[in-house]
Amino acid sequence: MQNIQNWPEHLKHGRWIIKSNWIELNSFETDRKKNTSRPPMQKAPQSDSLIDLPDIDAVRRSVGSESTLNEVVFNRKSRRKFSDESLSLAELTYLLWATQGVRKKTDKITLRTVPSGGARHPLETYIFVQRVEGLEPGLYHYLPLDHQLELVRPAESFDGDMEKLLDEALLDHNFGGAATFVWTAFPYRSERAYAFEAYRLILLDAGHVCQNLYLACEAVGAGTCAVGAYNQEKSDKLLGLYGQEEFVVYAAPVGKALD
Ligand SMILES: Cc1cc2nc3c(=O)[nH]c(=O)nc-3n(C[C@H](O)[C@H](O)[C@H](O)COP(=O)(O)O)c2cc1C
Repeated sequence: MQNIQNWPEHLKHGRWIIKSNWIELNSFETDRKKNTSRPPMQKAPQSDSLIDLPDIDAVRRSVGSESTLNEVVFNRKSRRKFSDESLSLAELTYLLWATQGVRKKTDKITLRTVPSGGARHPLETYIFVQRVEGLEPGLYHYLPLDHQLELVRPAESFDGDMEKLLDEALLDHNFGGAATFVWTAFPYRSERAYAFEAYRLILLDAGHVCQNLYLACEAVGAGTCAVGAYNQEKSDKLLGLYGQEEFVVYAAPVGKALD
């Protein structure tokens, strides 16, 4: 039995998060049961710099279509060394679609290329672009409902070298990626329906998203590595996030594979 006596007080009771609390939830008055207003399905862009991504049907015909599921599952591994090559915009588009692309939308939910507990889709995708053809280096935010990228900040507007700051925030796990995915959680999207049960679901959702990134990367001759070890404060700050409403939960640098 793990001895938790000397753990920081606020970290002592973590195990309940990965156990199901569904029975308690059934009798709990969630915000959804109270019919409070629904949070937006996608974070609204904060800037006017919006970029239409290439049509996804055309992208799917041009990249990723030659690999079989059998091959990508077999070849998938965590890759921590990348070539200097850039990703094409079509390849990045394919990866964004594979991880969050919207298949269907109703007035209440979206259905995407990944599953999500209760179709809440509580994650937002940010990309630190270093080497992507047709995109200036900088921090971007994916808008899955519009299939657009928002340029949040160009690289030169950071207070220091963006790649260095990112590597620091990711505790040296950026590995020189051409484009680094950073996922944030918007917990209220799940909490409204699932209250205390939301946290388990959010992290399970994140696993599905990153697994699709691994497989989609293999399909386009790229590679990635899941990053769970990062500095929360520095990562949030780099995205301009402060507080509990939205914060970083996972990251994954992507680059062209060396082997
Ligand atoms: C949730 C999660 C977090 C991870 N965090 C890191 C990390 O911070 N740094 C790292 O180098 N690898 C990280 N990895 C990659 C694992 O080390 C890797 O999956 C494992 O060693 C098995 O290797 P494989 O992915 O090549 O099969 C993480 C993987 C997962 C699923």
